[in-house]
Amino acid sequence: MSDTNKQNWGNYWQGRAGNSSGENPGDGFGEALVGVGIEHNEKLGAFWTASFAGLDSGAKILDMACGAGSVLRHAHNSGFTELSGVDISDAAIKAVQAEFAAAKGIKGVKGIVAPVDKTGLAGGAYDMVVSQYGFEYAGSRRQVLAAATEMARLLNPNGQFTALCHIKGGGIEQEVHGHLNDIKTLAQSNFIPAAKAVFSAAFAAESTPSPKTKKAYEDAVSGLTAPREKITGWIGLGQNGSSEIHKLGQHLYSGTIDLFNRRKAYSLADIIGWLDGMQGEIDAYKGRMHSMQQAALSAKDANNILAVFSRSGFEVEAPQKFYLTDDNKPAAWILKTR
Ligand SMILES: C[S@@+](CC[C@H](N)C(=O)[O-])C[C@H]1O[C@@H](n2cnc3c(N)ncnc32)[C@H](O)[C@@H]1O
Repeated sequence: MSDTNKQNWGNYWQGRAGNSSGENPGDGFGEALVGVGIEHNEKLGAFWTASFAGLDSGAKILDMACGAGSVLRHAHNSGFTELSGVDISDAAIKAVQAEFAAAKGIKGVKGIVAPVDKTGLAGGAYDMVVSQYGFEYAGSRRQVLAAATEMARLLNPNGQFTALCHIKGGGIEQEVHGHLNDIKTLAQSNFIPAAKAVFSAAFAAESTPSPKTKKAYEDAVSGLTAPREKITGWIGLGQNGSSEIHKLGQHLYSGTIDLFNRRKAYSLADIIGWLDGMQGEIDAYKGRMHSMQQAALSAKDANNILAVFSRSGFEVEAPQKFYLTDDNKPAAWILKTR
């Protein structure tokens, strides 16, 4: 697991902490999972409710790579209160804790900021370990198997493991592919470097007026024409969609125009800093899309993960496909012990 992965997810969860009301179990959830929208939360909820059936009411449940805690909310809705979540992102753990603290009468969730393959938690302490599009983000296949070993270690010998994992060739992977193409188009528009050149030349022409600075400004403006056409054309194509990358693109474009009109209120460094920040957000989004792609498991990967649990003495079920839509594209692998 690279530091970049940690930063990319930190960037995602930053600012989302405390944003959800605690009343809408879908909040903050759809975007993290790209293609899996809030509208499917009911099906996911039904899956988890069925998975929790039969557990003792005092069961200790651990959610690996819990994010803002959507599986923990389903567990809570099923009456469980001994809830813990592990996530690499400090901001995600703050989000889940804030959400549970905000909802009246809910005992706090124990949040642990750690990588899934090395949690530092006591072995055998959990009656159920769950994960939803989670532990497969551990990094390389070796780290994903290390995460499986870690989960088997954390389970008590009579405990149960259930996970929904990204699946190779599934609907989410296809959607991620589309988002990566969008990011490519955005990067190839060259809008950010061209906008930076315009701002730099405008500030120079305004602070030191001369034919030379005027000409440099005019050149920079004409250098922005093609990038501007590319980015507005691309934003136009996404009018009906509301993907995060299109929203980012729109924000980048309208923010740049706005900054240009009000540039006298800012320093050049502030404006360049804002554009660099936008570039950072785009890079982080791209990083998350790549990690989603990398996380998608083949049938062989799924079997290898279950084999780890078998070797630790757990009885496992054959991997099954989980569907959220009627389009024959599976949304996940169901990996579980009996
Ligand atoms: C797609 S989100 C899913 C979050 C949550 N399980 C859900 O269903 O909403 C993936 C989560 O994995 C976390 N993550 C990524 N790499 C991780 C790692 N190596 N160890 C622990 N968590 C990780 C991210 O911070 C993010 O919260």
